[in-house]
Amino acid sequence: MKNYNIAIIGCTGAVWVEMIKCLENLKIPISQLKLWASPRSTGKIVETFMWNIEIKEVNEDFFENIDYALFSAGWEKSKKYIPIAVDKWVVCIDNSSYFRYDENIPLVVPQINWDTIWNSKIIANPNCTTAIAAVVLNPIYKKYGIKKIIMSTYQATSWGWAKAMAELEGNTQKYFSWEKATIEQFVDNIAFNVIPHIDKFQENWYTKEEMKVVWETQKIFWDNNIDISCTCVRIPTFRAHSESIVLETEKNVDIEDIKNILENAPWVDLVDDIENNKYPMPLYASGKNNVEVGRIRKNLVFGDKWIELFISWDQLLRGAALNAVEILEVCINNLKK
Ligand SMILES: NC(=O)c1ccc[n+]([C@@H]2O[C@H](COP(=O)([O-])OP(=O)(O)OC[C@H]3O[C@@H](n4cnc5c(N)ncnc54)[C@H](OP(=O)(O)O)[C@@H]3O)[C@@H](O)[C@H]2O)c1
Repeated sequence: MKNYNIAIIGCTGAVWVEMIKCLENLKIPISQLKLWASPRSTGKIVETFMWNIEIKEVNEDFFENIDYALFSAGWEKSKKYIPIAVDKWVVCIDNSSYFRYDENIPLVVPQINWDTIWNSKIIANPNCTTAIAAVVLNPIYKKYGIKKIIMSTYQATSWGWAKAMAELEGNTQKYFSWEKATIEQFVDNIAFNVIPHIDKFQENWYTKEEMKVVWETQKIFWDNNIDISCTCVRIPTFRAHSESIVLETEKNVDIEDIKNILENAPWVDLVDDIENNKYPMPLYASGKNNVEVGRIRKNLVFGDKWIELFISWDQLLRGAALNAVEILEVCINNLKK
């Protein structure tokens, strides 16, 4: 089997920590691993399961002889350097939102739409809030069809930047010592609070994070007829997001059958034992490859085709790093390089 030269842009971040484990666990055949972070980190040595690697300085030669590049350093870096990498025949898998809404760029959850990759040189990794719901919704969509989705999220501080988790930790300590909270990563104090505001407000008064769920779900399922409304809320947990999802199916649903198909769905763990207080929770979903789903029931308000469920998952791992490395795996297995 051929081994590949792989570059990672953003090799000191929260997503990176999971990404390097995924490269090892999925046994990606690597001959060279090239790492890049900000100028602050240039020259530092990073320990990996293969070698200790020095973080390189940024320049255009960085992409010479690279087969695949995983971008995980924010959209400005993706915007600037992905076109340079593509010019050098590098296939780029991008964790940022920069290319997601370009109709010529596939937005991929490998379990659902790996076949949209074709020969694309840029593949966008979806927003974690969307990607994970899609993993759970996919088997329901296939069997019953989905017409409408109403979603509320409970999002941990690990989305975005490692600094955000540090702000939660710092402000929690400050709360007990009566010190003034630091408010840099969020719009308000995140400790002992919930904030119904993630990303910028749009003209329709939804936030961009909420609209990402709409745009990206429709793109992943290739179905603009699914009506979606989402409220995204930041909560003071470190890791793993959760979502309450209410959805309308095309056909009448049988709740036991929904449980059955989710129990047998790939990358999904059914955790729905209410007698023993077992349901999805972020504390237990952290560090897991699979998405937990539970609290599955008929909705009391809207009628027979409406169901409710609750999901939790590790967004750094399943929501970002693992999805990106699985895209890489699909490319290695299917693209001629
Ligand atoms: N966290 C999540 O749950 C999640 C989920 C889905 C997608 N994403 C996306 O994944 C990306 C990374 O997120 P993260 O949480 O890992 O962020 P993070 O912890 O803040 O790490 C950011 C990385 O980017 C590097 N970087 C910053 N400025 C740079 C520059 N000028 N040139 C090159 N590298 C630079 C940083 O290097 P230094 O250490 O040297 O500053 C660091 O390695 C973002 O695009 C984010 O939107 C994150």
